[in-house]
Amino acid sequence: MTSPDHGNEPNRRTSSGRGFSTRAIRAASRPPRVDQRPTTVPIYQTATFSSDDAEELGAVLTDKMPGYAYSRIDNPTTAALGSAIAEIEGAEAGHAFATGMAAIHAALLSVVRGGDRIVSTRAVYGSTRSLLANVFGPLGVTTEFVDITDHAAVEGALAAAPTRVLYAETISNPTIVIADHSALAGLAHRHGATYIVDNTFASPYLCRPLELGADVVVESATKYIGGHSDVLAGVVAGDAGRIRRIRDVQVDTGGSLAPLAAFLVLRGMATLAVRMERHAATAGALAVWLERQPGVRRVYHPSLASHPQRALAARQLAVGGGMLAFELDGGREAGGSFIDALTLTELTASLGSVHTMVVHPPSTTHRQLDDRGLADAGIAPGLLRVSVGLEDLEDLVDDFEGALAAARGVATGLATAAGQR
Ligand SMILES: Cc1ncc(COP(=O)(O)O)c(C=O)c1O
Repeated sequence: MTSPDHGNEPNRRTSSGRGFSTRAIRAASRPPRVDQRPTTVPIYQTATFSSDDAEELGAVLTDKMPGYAYSRIDNPTTAALGSAIAEIEGAEAGHAFATGMAAIHAALLSVVRGGDRIVSTRAVYGSTRSLLANVFGPLGVTTEFVDITDHAAVEGALAAAPTRVLYAETISNPTIVIADHSALAGLAHRHGATYIVDNTFASPYLCRPLELGADVVVESATKYIGGHSDVLAGVVAGDAGRIRRIRDVQVDTGGSLAPLAAFLVLRGMATLAVRMERHAATAGALAVWLERQPGVRRVYHPSLASHPQRALAARQLAVGGGMLAFELDGGREAGGSFIDALTLTELTASLGSVHTMVVHPPSTTHRQLDDRGLADAGIAPGLLRVSVGLEDLEDLVDDFEGALAAARGVATGLATAAGQR
């Protein structure tokens, strides 16, 4: 066939009788045959999978037959990440998502309905708080926020009305508070609630909440599991029935993980243990050093003898982890000047990476709160949160030393000005 728009098309026809475009599409879409297993999980960078006939496609799409049809529903690279997470969390099943928030959203939505009630830790990640308030709230799901370390308060909240979910974080932002999973799982189950844990700050190397009685664990794999600040992802793990329901939510709401992203997370996971050991060793040493520095009021790290939950940390965490926080004399101004004087660290709100990242919550994530609001949230105006990366300890100490000197200068100036008034 010729047409004015395809003037040269006959010349492009080949001996098979098919046009060039048809042949090129066919030629470029033939997966190679591979008889030997690849050492790493291949990236199945495809949106669609072809079945042999209509019956097979129908059976795969309706879950009557295992297989792949469309990558929002299932993709082999992404499924490999789900299985890997299940294995390292000690779970029957796991599933991967586009982000940590997509995982948390699906985990909650698989359990709650309009009119239900959630009891959540007060020290919950900011976007989770707004998910609970701004997405689940208008759907008629109410959330009561409690101090998760006060078990009497948790029990009181669970007993006050039928509760569908108790929600906690293993280690929470920014003051490194630890949730006692065995005790909280016991309380949740006694009151008929599902215990869901965000294990992002700990990672499955430090803590495996399912082994301590949690029903579902969720994680932002953007953080330690991926570990290199180059990918966004989320994961969930739990028993097969729960994960199936969570996956069904994801299929309908669309927070599916791309295969390349799944590959990057799998690559990160392979080195999780060695990275976590190094994060923890550097953070522990930095915390001990910080405790001795003038102008530092208080340091929070699970490995410190001064940590208010030291015994729980020793029982529940394999090592202290890479997250620490400390309070400076001189309030917001000193905190801000510390951050600005750093040269080696990344000024970003994320965590769990090879890069050390420092945030001053009062001037960033909690900027909207005045000093009283900060105090209610347990945040001192001079508090800094550090996600300790994999740089050399000596270089971090040097950088922190310079920044502490700058912060002390500000604190002294403020004290002098106050004395003159
Ligand atoms: C504790 C915690 N949970 C969940 C998330 C959300 O993860 P993501 O950014 O991958 O959606 C974060 C992100 O910072 C987090 O810190």
